[in-house]
Formats: sequence, C-alpha cells, structure tokens
Amino acid sequence: MDESGEYKRKESIVLVVIVVIAAISLVSLFLAFSYYCYIRNKVAKRVNTTESGGGGGVCDRESGFSEIKLSVEKGLHVFTFKQLHSATGGFGKGNVVGHGGFGAVYKGVISDGRKVAVKLMDRAGKQGEDEFEMEVELSGRLRSPYLLALIGYCSDNNHKLLVYEFMPNGGLQGHLYPAHAGSNNGTSKLDWETRLRIALEAAKGLEYLHEQVSPPVIHRDFKSSNILLDRNFHAKISDFGLAKLGSDKAGCHVSTRVLGTQGYVAPEYALTGHLTTKSDVYSYGVVLLELLTGRVPVDSKRAPGEGVLVTWALPRLTDREKVVQIMDPALDGQYSMKEAIQVAAIAAMCVQSESDYRPLMADVVQSLVPLVKRQHSASRVASCSSFHGTKSPVVHALDKTTL
Ligand SMILES: Nc1ncnc2c1ncn2[C@@H]1O[C@H](COP(=O)(O)OP(=O)(O)OP(=O)(O)O)[C@@H](O)[C@H]1O
Ligand SMILES: [Mg+2]
Repeated sequence: MDESGEYKRKESIVLVVIVVIAAISLVSLFLAFSYYCYIRNKVAKRVNTTESGGGGGVCDRESGFSEIKLSVEKGLHVFTFKQLHSATGGFGKGNVVGHGGFGAVYKGVISDGRKVAVKLMDRAGKQGEDEFEMEVELSGRLRSPYLLALIGYCSDNNHKLLVYEFMPNGGLQGHLYPAHAGSNNGTSKLDWETRLRIALEAAKGLEYLHEQVSPPVIHRDFKSSNILLDRNFHAKISDFGLAKLGSDKAGCHVSTRVLGTQGYVAPEYALTGHLTTKSDVYSYGVVLLELLTGRVPVDSKRAPGEGVLVTWALPRLTDREKVVQIMDPALDGQYSMKEAIQVAAIAAMCVQSESDYRPLMADVVQSLVPLVKRQHSASRVASCSSFHGTKSPVVHALDKTTL
C-alpha cells in the first residue's frame, strides 16, 4: 500500500472514532436528561402529597389562597356570585336567617336541590379576609358529625361568601333566650334531655378539634350562637374563622391577639394572650352554665353581682343546696338533683381560673355520656326515679380540687 492509501485509511478510522464518540456522548446526554426529568417528576409528586395533607389532619403552615385551591380538591364547591344570588332569591330580606359579625346569613337552595345557609361578608379589611380564609381552609380539612359542614364558597374581587349545610333550628342561643330573639313570651322550650344531648354533642365537637387532629385546633370563639341545631335538635359547632392551630407539646401555648366574644373568653387568655385548648374548655363551661341557668354570659340589666354569669354561678355550683337556685326555672320538674349537681360540677371544673385544672374535653365527654344515656333510657321507660351511676371523671376530680 502506498503512502496516500495508508493516510486515507487512518483518516477514515479517526472519522469512525469521532462519530462513535459523538454518538456515545449524545446517548449519554439523552439518558442523563431522561433521568433528570424522572427525578424532578418524583420530587414534584412527593411535594404535592405533603401539601395536600397526606398525613391527615391539620398542618402548621400559614393559610393562604394556594391552600384554598387545594381545598377545592377536597370537595368544596366554588360558586359564582350569580349562582348564590339566584340560590337565595337575590339575597331577599325574607331569606335572612340571622346576622353576625361576618355579615348577614341567608337561607337558599343550590342547583342540586340542597338547602344551604349563605353567609355574605359585609365588612372590608384584613380581619374579615383572614377569617374567610381560615374558615375555608379548616372546614375543608376537618370532618366530624359534630362540626358544621362547609359546602363551598365564592371569592371574587368584590364578594366573599361562605355556603354551609342548612341547620333548620338555627343557633342554640335563640332557643335558650327566646325573649332576646323576640320569638315568644320568653320561656325556653328546650327541655333538659335535649340540653344534655346538645352539651354532649358540642363537647364531642371540641374533643375532635383538640384531641383528634394534629396539631390541635383551638376554636377561640366557642359560644351558644356557634352551636347550630338540625331539625331534630342535634348540635354542630360552627365558625372556624377565629380558629388557631395549637401546639402539640403538652403545656405549650400560642401567643395571639385576644379575639373572641365577651363573657366567653378565658381569663388567662384575656390577660396574657396565651392561648391553649383549655381556653376553649373555659368557653365550653360558660355554655354549660347557659344551658343550666338559661342566663346570658354578660347581662348588665341584672342585679349587682349577677351581671357576669361565671362570677355569680361559680360559688353556687359546688354547693348542693345552692345549685337548685341557679337552675333555669323553665326546667322545673325535668331533672333530678343528682343530674343537676353532676352537670354543675362539670361546669365548675371548666370555668376554673387556673387553666391547668380544667378538664380535657375527652373527660367532659366521658362524664356526660352516662347522663345522656340515662336520660335516653329513662324517657324510653317513662321513669326516672333511681340513679345509681358511677362517678364521672370530672366529678371525681372535683372532689379533690378546691375551687
Ligand atoms: N348553617 C346555618 N343554618 C341555619 N342558620 C344559620 C346557619 N349559620 C348561621 N345561622 C343563623 O345565623 C345567625 C348568625 O350567625 P353568625 O355565625 O353569622 O353570627 P353569630 O354566631 O351569631 O355571631 P358572631 O358573628 O359574633 O360569631 C345564627 O345565630 C343562626 O341563627
Ligand atoms: Mg356564628
């Protein structure tokens, strides 16, 4: 072979080598890119499942509109203003069922035939927006038969509306104080058995918030108007707009601006802003006192010393002779002294000024269950003469605690 032939052969070998190297590089580049895409996809999926609450319950991030979008995935309807306008008969006055701090509440019917209550926010400002977001965020995540269900919402630039299941018997407050609501001669028709059952169901709602979700949810505005009643007077807790996520660690509190309703706010929270689930337990105790006495938490028209329900009732709650004096006259003849004393003891434990001595909501539930069962069976056999129940955990604890 001559010199030029040899040169050409070498040249073609080099060319082949270059082509092979280029091909290998291209294939490696392609493989690396595919692997990168695969990993990226996997990470994105993992982030999504954590964000949508894969661990169950409430997570401790600040709420925001991104989370409201996630709530839509959890089955909340997003309504247009027009849809809710027509559902409520153009927000007609005849459809107003109540009015609260958020705005007016209308009854309505949505396209699938369901009866709903529509809350139309009528106040501007950050507090209203925050409450709206918290309500949507929490209601989308919490599920309990003792909590009012949020069906959906409408949020555009000009309107904020919340759509709930309709509770035909409205708020507990209206049934305890019909005179305030102007509906009849002022005597409550809510009987003892129903009051006990409402107390138990509301306690189960708070127990769920405090002990069955993590981190716990502190309602912060637990009161009789936020206990709604269905057609059979079964109770559900409403309004999570002021709720806060508590601390998982025992004995820990969250510091917040004091919000809530006069007469229901726990003293340590009012004084220091330190919020724990025990603040809700105090508010629950106030509602229990309302059920027992038929009195509003703060009434400036009462005689001196009787205006603040807790201050007036507390010294009488643990005195057998005096308990009968505080009972709602509308309940006369419906309860046994033993039952009244037991419920009064639970209320006394809940409204103690020392938050650590207040019971857990699980203890309250455990104490009320036998009372409600007893009522149920007593009404079934139409006899309520003997009571031989064992002492409830709260009443038992009361024996040891000086109030
Ligand atoms: N889902 C519902 N079904 C039927 N009636 C309702 C419903 N939600 C609210 N209402 C009625 O509307 C009233 C006002 O409720 P809203 O929650 O707006 O205010 P509030 O609880 O009375 O006061 P605040 O705004 O201070 O919490 C209630 O007392 C109740 O009678
Ligand atoms: Mg309310």
